[in-house]
This record gives sequence, C-alpha cells and structure tokens, in this order.
Amino acid sequence: PTALVIAIDGTSGSGKSSTSRGVAGRLGLRYLDTGAMFRAMTWWLLREGVDVHDVAAVAAACGRPVIESGTDPLAPTITVDGVDVSVEIRSDEVNAAVSPVSAVPEVRSLLLDLQREVIGTGGIVVEGRDIGSVVWPQAELKVYLSADPDARAQRRALEEGGSDLASTQQSLLERDRIDSGRATAPLTMADGAVHVDSTHLTLPEVVDRIVTLAEEAR
Ligand code: C5P
Repeated sequence: PTALVIAIDGTSGSGKSSTSRGVAGRLGLRYLDTGAMFRAMTWWLLREGVDVHDVAAVAAACGRPVIESGTDPLAPTITVDGVDVSVEIRSDEVNAAVSPVSAVPEVRSLLLDLQREVIGTGGIVVEGRDIGSVVWPQAELKVYLSADPDARAQRRALEEGGSDLASTQQSLLERDRIDSGRATAPLTMADGAVHVDSTHLTLPEVVDRIVTLAEEAR
C-alpha cells in the first residue's frame, strides 16, 4: 500500500539509518533521512562563514540553499544547490555544529515543509528526531529506537573507521543533550510509538522486528 509511512526516531547512533534503509528495502518503500537535511543546511552555513551559534544570522541565511533528498534506500543522496554533499555532511565540523543549527525554529519550519513534500502520499520510511511527534504524527507505524551509549559509540566509531571511542561517545551525548533539550520539536518518544531497544539486537533482528510491526500495522 502506497500510503504506509513508517516514522523512526531516536538518539544519535541508535542505528536509525541502517535500520530505516533495511526496512525500506524489505518492504519496497522509499527512504528519507531528515538528519541529512539538517546536516546539509549546517554544511552550507559553515561554508558561507555564518556563525552557527548566532540564531538571528542562521535564521536570516537558512532560506538560501536549495536542499534536495533522493529517496532510494540503496543509494540515498543529498544535494545542496545541485551538488552532492553525502560525504561532507559526516565531518566532525558538521557533527559539532548540527545540533545548534537544528534548534533554530526557522531552520526547522523550512525543512519541515520540504520533509512533508517528500513524504507526499506515503510509501516511505522516514528517520529523524521529531517525525512521529511533529512531522508526520499520523504515521501508520512509529518507532522509537534506542541503544545504550556504549553500544552507540562503538557502532559509530566502527563506522567512522576506528575513531576514538571516548570522544565519539562524548560527541553523541552532547548532540542528544541539545536535541532533547531544545524548545522546538525536541527529541522525544511520540504518542503511540513502539520502543525498540537495539542494544542487544543485531541489525537484521531490529529490521525483522520493525517489518513485523509494519505488517501488523497495515
Ligand atoms: O540523524 P543524524 O544524527 O544524522 O542527525 C543529525 C542532527 O540533525 C541531530 O543531532 C539533530 O540535531 C538534527 N535532527 C533534527 N531533527 C530531525 C533529524 C535530525 O533536529 N528530524
């Protein structure tokens, strides 16, 4: 059914991306990584020399870049003004700046419109922090994915090719702190969300669980 929307929210490094892509692949759905949109905005602001801690400056500039997301779960793309920035948006600089940028209401409302446009008539797995609570509360299935900080840091450090574990964990926890504490659309478990703790599960196990939940939700 094309109307199916699966919202997957959770903390940084909880396995949202791998899980969401896996679920979309299994169910033949599109995939939207909303974190990549906030990262793309942040990358552009940094490149333009905008002070990311200056809320007024960020609000004034954020309407300028054209951000577009591809929705193929096997090859997701993110472009800014037509240029693919999939690699650049994973840098330490973007990691450190993305949470303050994402707390700016003007940034959120701009990207919210884009996200709703992509979701359109559904048939998509959407991952983020506020998908089930704000972006698409009517989603047929809402999942809140979590994992212990140690497990999250280990996975992320591995992904990043052996970055330092302690500093990776520090950076994840700092983003969680800002994302959960902001006034606009903070990270929270949405009403009606199913909590899946992935600490002791493998990726295929998490995907299986969510696919089963989706089949029940249909
Ligand atoms: O999911 P990812 O870790 O790539 O997201 C990067 C950042 O983007 C988050 O730490 C958060 O600040 C922001 N974000 C958000 N709302 C979303 C998705 C991401 O504020 N729906």
